[in-house]
Amino acid sequence: MNSGKWIRQSHRWLSIAFTTTVLVAIVAVSQENPAMWVFYLPLFPLVLQFLTGLYLFVLPYTAKGRGGRRVT
Ligand code: HEM
Repeated sequence: MNSGKWIRQSHRWLSIAFTTTVLVAIVAVSQENPAMWVFYLPLFPLVLQFLTGLYLFVLPYTAKGRGGRRVT
C-alpha cells in the first residue's frame, strides 16, 4: 500500500474513532458530575485527523498524488 492510500485509510478510520469519542462526551455530559477529562478525548483523534487531512489536501497538487513518477 502506498503512503497516500495508507494515510487515506487512517483518515477514514480516525473519523470513526473521533465520532466515538464525541458520542462518549455527549453521554458523559448527560451524567451527574461528569469527569472533565472525557471532554479532551476527541482532541487526540482530531489532531491526527487534521494532520492526515492536510496531507490528503495537498496530495492532488503533488506528483505523487497524480500517479506521476519522480525523475531521479
Ligand atoms: C480536522 C481537519 C480535517 C481536514 C483538514 C480534513 C481533510 C480531508 C481531505 C483533504 C480529504 C480528502 C478529500 C478528497 O480529496 O477525496 C478528507 C476525506 C475524508 N474525511 Fe476529512 N478532514 C478533517 C477532519 C475530518 C473529520 C473530523 C472527519 C469525520 C469525523 C473526516 C472524515 C473524512 C472522511 C470519511 C473522508 C473520506 C476518506 C476516504 O476517501 O476514504 N475528516 N478529509
